Order: sequence, then structure tokens, then C-alpha cells
Amino acid sequence: MHILVTGGAGYVGSHACKSLAEAGHTPVVLDNLSNGHADAVLWGPLVEGDIANEELVRATIREHKIEGVMHFAALAEVGESVREPDRYWRNNVGGTLALLSAARAEGVQRFVFSSTCAIFGPVDQPISEYLPANPLSPYGHTKLAAEMLLRDHAAAFDIGAVALRYFNAAGADPESRIGERHDPESHLIPIALEVAAGEREYLAIFGTDYDTPDGTCIRDYIHVDDLSQAHVLAIEAATPGRFDAFNLGTGIGHSVREVADVAARVTGRKLTIREEARRPGDPPRLVADPSKARKVLGWQAQHTDLETIVRHAWAFKQSQLARAG
Ligand code: UFG
Repeated sequence: MHILVTGGAGYVGSHACKSLAEAGHTPVVLDNLSNGHADAVLWGPLVEGDIANEELVRATIREHKIEGVMHFAALAEVGESVREPDRYWRNNVGGTLALLSAARAEGVQRFVFSSTCAIFGPVDQPISEYLPANPLSPYGHTKLAAEMLLRDHAAAFDIGAVALRYFNAAGADPESRIGERHDPESHLIPIALEVAAGEREYLAIFGTDYDTPDGTCIRDYIHVDDLSQAHVLAIEAATPGRFDAFNLGTGIGHSVREVADVAARVTGRKLTIREEARRPGDPPRLVADPSKARKVLGWQAQHTDLETIVRHAWAFKQSQLARAG
């Protein structure tokens, strides 16, 4: 299939292009490069532009004979969303509606949406799809609203739509061609690796008094290649008239301290750690129950070992440093 990948120059989107190409599909990237990187588009053409530009989207769909859309393009910083909710609603909900309308007008029937575990509130158990949504941030609100848009469009317009809710996307292409590059960086693993590389003085641990075994927050780190595989399975399985949603994680939780220890071990560097106050809005524990994705999509994470995830992220970081000279 020829698949339009919005946000395909970004972190998860670029890995989805790789998985699509490996599965014999053709990815066509639409990205406005506000956060993405043109040099991460390696498996198909790049169309530079915005998802809200319906004319451009329709022309791209016609020109490239697009049969399905994978929609990654979005703003995705929880803290920023609290300060600028209008921008989040315009991009993440308004942009998704425009994209859906354009795709529908051109008869595209398959749609896979990049969603997030942030649509759930803090839950002290593995998070399955049957738990009620309860987003705590404007970011989570906009992702849940976009899921609702998709659900309604699937029912009314015979579209097959799938929402994939990621837990903590991490790692990089094992061959280091693409990886995580946010600016500024806010995520734990790349920050720990910046400290290891000497680019940052210390790793701040946000909160050491949580009700968890070592007092730090627990997250479910899922390899980006495993996420991208799930997208391929989802677009292949999309059934007209049907909306479905899957939680994608390993089902295994790791604390912030464990991540710091693994980063020190993998890099062979000592990480300076500073214990700081809790970061507002961080739930103590977020771990997926991925059994529905296993049963329905036949998907299962392959890189469940945190050390492998961090090793791939570190190899990518080193390749970036080498490229920068
Ligand atoms: N953390 C630190 N120090 C840092 C950065 C992070 O201690 O310098 C901690 C955080 O407090 C948190 C854990 O490491 O406990 C993971 O933090 P990240 O920022 O890497 O990831 P989050 O779990 O906050 O965010 C993820 C996704 C978001 C999504 C969110 C839902 O990246 O897109 O889960 O809660 F919205």
C-alpha cells in the first residue's frame, strides 16, 4: 500500500516509515518540519507542508495514490500544552479533522492514529483499554478528542480507524539511521544519555518520595521499533466502518533510578544525579496491559529488555555526535 505518514520526519513517524518499507509498503511523508528532521526521511518522498492544508493533502493523496494514512503529526509536550492549550487544540484536533476530511474526500479508508497513555489518568494497575479515559492535561484532552473524531468518522463514513496509545516510546533504530532528537529534550532516557555524553551536568530525578519500591516514578518503556511494527499491523488490519484502540507497552515497569542505573551501565560513564522535587502532573506509575494488541493484532514487543532499548539509544546518540564531528 501507499501510505501517507504525517509527522514522518519525527521520532516515531520516521521509524514507522522504516517498518512500512520493510513490510513492502511505500511511505510518503507529510511534515511541516516544525519538530521533525528532513534527514530522517529515508524510505520515501517528503512533502513539506501542514496537515491543515486540505488542498495540499488532497493533491498529495492523488499524486501518490495513497490508500491509508498514519497520523503522527502533533504537538506532544504535556507542560507546553498547559501553557498553550489553544495551539494544542488547533493542531491536534483541528489538524486531525482537516486531515480526516481531506482523506475522506479522496476516498482513503484506512487511518492509524498516534495516541498516548496520557488519555488515562493515574491508575495503580496495568492499564487496559477497558479502563475509563481521564486525561489530566490539555495534551491528553486533545488526543482523546481526536480519538473521538476518528470513532465518529469510522462509524458514519465507512473508514477503518485504529488509535494506538503509546506508553514511553524509547530506543532507536538498531542501525542508528534514525532516533530520538527533540529540542529541547525533556524525556528521561535521552537526558540521561546527554549526561553520559558530557553535554549536561547532571540528571535530575523528579521526586524520590513516591509510593513505589525505590521512591521514583515507574514507566513502561517501549522500543520505538516495536511501536512502528504495531502501526504496520494496524493499518493492514483496519476494517471499514470500524474504530479500535490499543494500548502499546511491554507490560513491564521500570523506575527512574533503574533507568539511570542502566544508562550508567550501558555507557560505562558515571552519571551525576540530583534528587529534586516532584514534577507537577507525574503519575507515580504507568504500565500498559498490552494483551488486547497481542490478541487482536498479533503484536508483541520484541525488545522488552531495558538495556537493549538504552543501548540502541546510546548508539544513535554516538552516531549523531560522530556526524557533528
Ligand atoms: N524524569 C526525571 N528527570 C528528567 C526527565 C524525566 O526524573 O530529567 C522522570 C519523570 O518525572 C517521569 C519519568 O522520568 O517520572 C519519565 O519521564 P518522561 O518525561 O521521559 O516521560 P513521561 O512519562 O512524562 O511522558 C510520557 C510521554 C508523553 C505522555 C506522557 C503521559 O513521553 O508524551 O508519558 O503521562 F504524554
